[in-house]
Amino acid sequence: MTVQKLFPVLFLQLALAFLLAGLTNAGGLQLGFYRRACPDAELIVHQTLYRYISRDRTLAAPLLRMHFHDCFIRGCDGSVLLSSTKKNQAEKDAIPNQTLRGFNVIDAVKSALEKKCPGVVSCSDILALVARDAVLMIGGPHWDVPTGRRDGRVSIANEALFNLPSPFANITVLKQQFSATGLSVKDLAVLSGGHTIGIGHCTLISNRLYNFTGKGDTDPSLDPRYAAQLKKKCKPGNSNTVVEMDPGSFKSFDEDYYTIVAKRRGLFQSDSALLDDAETRDYVRFQSRTQGSTFAQDFGESMVKMGYIGVLTGKQGEIRKRCAFLQNFTQGKMAIQKLFVVCFLQLVFAFLLAGLTNAGGLQLGFYRRACPDAELIVHQTLYRYISRDRTLAAPLLRMHFHDCFIRGCDGSVLLSSTKKNQAEKDAIPNQTLRGFNVIDAVKSALEKKCPGVVSCSDILALVARDAVLMIGGPHWDVPTGRRDGRVSIANEALFNLPSPFANITVLKQQFSTGGHTIGIGHCTLISNRLYNFTGKGDTDPSLDPRYAAQLKKKCKPGNSNTVVEMDPGSFKSFDEDYYTIVAKRRGLFQSDSALLDDAETRDYVRFQSRTQGSTFAQDFGESMVKMGYIGVLTGKQGEIRKRCAVVN
Ligand SMILES: *[C@@H]1O[C@H](CO)[C@@H](O)[C@H](O)[C@H]1NC(C)=O
Ligand SMILES: *[C@@H]1O[C@H](CO)[C@@H](O)[C@H](O)[C@H]1NC(C)=O
Ligand SMILES: *[C@@H]1O[C@H](CO)[C@@H](O)[C@H](O)[C@H]1NC(C)=O
Ligand SMILES: *[C@@H]1O[C@H](CO)[C@@H](O)[C@H](O)[C@H]1NC(C)=O
Repeated sequence: MTVQKLFPVLFLQLALAFLLAGLTNAGGLQLGFYRRACPDAELIVHQTLYRYISRDRTLAAPLLRMHFHDCFIRGCDGSVLLSSTKKNQAEKDAIPNQTLRGFNVIDAVKSALEKKCPGVVSCSDILALVARDAVLMIGGPHWDVPTGRRDGRVSIANEALFNLPSPFANITVLKQQFSATGLSVKDLAVLSGGHTIGIGHCTLISNRLYNFTGKGDTDPSLDPRYAAQLKKKCKPGNSNTVVEMDPGSFKSFDEDYYTIVAKRRGLFQSDSALLDDAETRDYVRFQSRTQGSTFAQDFGESMVKMGYIGVLTGKQGEIRKRCAFLQNFTQGKMAIQKLFVVCFLQLVFAFLLAGLTNAGGLQLGFYRRACPDAELIVHQTLYRYISRDRTLAAPLLRMHFHDCFIRGCDGSVLLSSTKKNQAEKDAIPNQTLRGFNVIDAVKSALEKKCPGVVSCSDILALVARDAVLMIGGPHWDVPTGRRDGRVSIANEALFNLPSPFANITVLKQQFSTGGHTIGIGHCTLISNRLYNFTGKGDTDPSLDPRYAAQLKKKCKPGNSNTVVEMDPGSFKSFDEDYYTIVAKRRGLFQSDSALLDDAETRDYVRFQSRTQGSTFAQDFGESMVKMGYIGVLTGKQGEIRKRCAVVN
């Protein structure tokens, strides 16, 4: 019954549509596909999902629906999860809003899997496993899910519009849609049973209630007494109210989907339509008469069948790192490298050279006992921001850098100035300051769950890691257990932050003492290179002359407001990595060009440039972890701030 309630309202006809659709079984899936490569995969899915469903059982319906949607459009390839880009409106954005809940759950599952087995489990398999477990968790049947799907690289909004069965569809259309995907008429009847959970917006039934044939009439296939009840809830023009399949509450629901449909109380036209075909009508009546005697078994079988629709296997498609973004390594690497370029060019490097020593005292999973969901909460809260504005990743990464290079990674960069003390925050160039609100939101979400447990300095380290991952960069494990410092002094920021004007000798010194360099491309920072390098009105000869000419067009003498990107083009058209740019003598800052003045750094630049950054992702994660150890406070040192901007 529970699982039957899940289905009724929102995608009645979806399931149906499957039966009709004739999707062919591409084969190539198998039970326990991840047994070797990620033995705990199904367990991780189950446990992560349980954390959500146990708090909110209504999530089961949209999560089940998500798998349906996915399979019906281009096959079960995870394409429903892809976000729209500037050039392409994705399926996600064509699907009615109310069906979209639960993407955060999929992201949390994916991120838990990536932690354990990076790059192994596909988003499309996650959808299939989550749908199964969600149904199970609200009392539905269990079935074995063959896995081995791979993720598609295409998602097109219009396909969603054309391929998703509509709640207004009649039985002819439903049967056609299902048979087009290889599913039978029985599958249509069975999967429609999934509509036993869920909700329907009044807009989807107002024509049935008030203007069925354009003459102000009501759909005659709807039980008149039920129609009258529905009219009380859904006044004409009401578009916000949500109707449950069963007028009672979830708890008091005591009829299964087939009984409701048999009584002509199916909410959508596509439910009522099941009575218009001999085979589907017989199935409805049989289940209604026998209290759904074979429904659980049938449902599992039809779900497995649906899960084969148009799957990609073997070497097809890809395994995405993040379900919302294509896994294009080139693109990912560029995104993160571009981050660097604009923001803190020589950092990675310098770390490789610098031999910062590991101060010890941190550990992986430090909050495992005291706040088991800490990293998940960080990830989810951050995702709400980054998914709306990817450009936040750069300043958030930079914030962790700033923090670590001034007094060590102790969260001091977050402290606000007081009447008596000007804090670091106010010494750092304005443009690097974005994102404090994100840190505050993360902290406040953590305080709600585990008050006084997670330090602001650890939050900075985790946010930096997740921000990089969310824009397609590498993932690394972050040891935690930092505590927050109680001191923040503006002048220290001025002295310890390496300057974009630094030469290689200074850079190496700063890195070897825990210094670093961060910068943003304001014209003021390069005008001397362009217009007066040695005080004789000359240009820095280490800069490629053609690039210098381009920069001069952007940065007129005396211009202090314009910001220059390393790459004159847009993000999308960016097609060179940082090291290639530096190797070509197009590094924006003197400190970039300086990388060519030392044998070791030059070799690294040239190697990455030549090999398309072959070891860059790995190196970056390692250097970030190393940086995260700079001057940390642990044990009984420092404090755990309640609010990141003020000492306790
Ligand atoms: C739903 O989609 C419509 C149209 O795209 C949009 O105007 C509206 O704000 C969305 N509602 C929610 C809750 O996202
Ligand atoms: C079903 O709907 C389609 C599309 O709206 C329509 O062309 C067809 O005539 C309908 N069939 C019946 C039997 O009403
Ligand atoms: C009912 O439908 C007809 C035909 O589409 C339309 O002209 C009329 O305005 C509708 N009436 C209402 C109350 O929406
Ligand atoms: C990755 O992205 C780049 C830039 O958008 C594109 O040129 C390249 O073809 C993509 N690679 C694959 C394998 O799709």
